Amino acid sequence: MSAAPNTPEHIAIIMDGNGRWAKERGLPRRNGHRAGAESVREAVETCKELGVKYLTLYAFSSENWSRPQSEVDALMVLLDRFLAEKTPELNRQNVRLHTIGNISRLPAKNQKRITKAKEETAQNTDLNLILALSYGAREEITDAVKRIAEQVEGGNLTSDRITKEILSQNLDTAAFPDPDLLVRTSGELRLSNFLLWQLSYAEIVVTKKYWPDFKRADLQAAVEEYSRRHRRFGGL
Ligand code: IPE
Ligand code: IPE
Ligand code: MG
Repeated sequence: MSAAPNTPEHIAIIMDGNGRWAKERGLPRRNGHRAGAESVREAVETCKELGVKYLTLYAFSSENWSRPQSEVDALMVLLDRFLAEKTPELNRQNVRLHTIGNISRLPAKNQKRITKAKEETAQNTDLNLILALSYGAREEITDAVKRIAEQVEGGNLTSDRITKEILSQNLDTAAFPDPDLLVRTSGELRLSNFLLWQLSYAEIVVTKKYWPDFKRADLQAAVEEYSRRHRRFGGL
């Protein structure tokens, strides 16, 4: 479907509040993560309906490794199950899977599954679904700076020719436009090390709803709010 005017081309979401959602129901935190997977499915569908071309989901941060091992393990199992179950559906929906972040820190089983899902969806062209996994923006920017330094050391670049475009091209997100809209669920007013460079001019919508309660109508409302915003990019 082609997008209406003022529809964001790229939406990024900090999917937060799974643990609190579960706690309020007297359930273990992993039940909240499981319920959150259903919201992911719905967000993908809604983006397709709206004609959004890129959806980046913050699924696991570089800081989330500091959680209890049992929760990390549960998240990795859920991720593996999600990709195993949903890859055929992504193909039916013409959705291509990408990842950003330090995938090499994930268990080997997850890495294999991710590679397979990326390969199987590589021909799809409707929506790009980008999962941020073991992702941290400071690590991403540091790695980009290292790569650029190596190019300078190798004599392929001089420091006076380093531009913001070159930095962008060395980030994990090199192939994607910057997000137009950032949504964070669960009411927290912070970026939590997400896409620090790329979100410079994103419009921000924060909702109090926990991620498992964030459904089609909520994403539609966020996009409507976005479409009413006046983006000035420092101009008039
Ligand atoms: C977001 O929900 C999912 C991940 C960070 C993996 P949380 O697990 O952060 O849930 P809260 O914020 O503790 O409620
Ligand atoms: C951000 O949520 C990371 C993800 C949603 C994957 P956190 O729950 O980890 O962030 P903080 O700790 O509240 O900043
Ligand atoms: Mg949280």
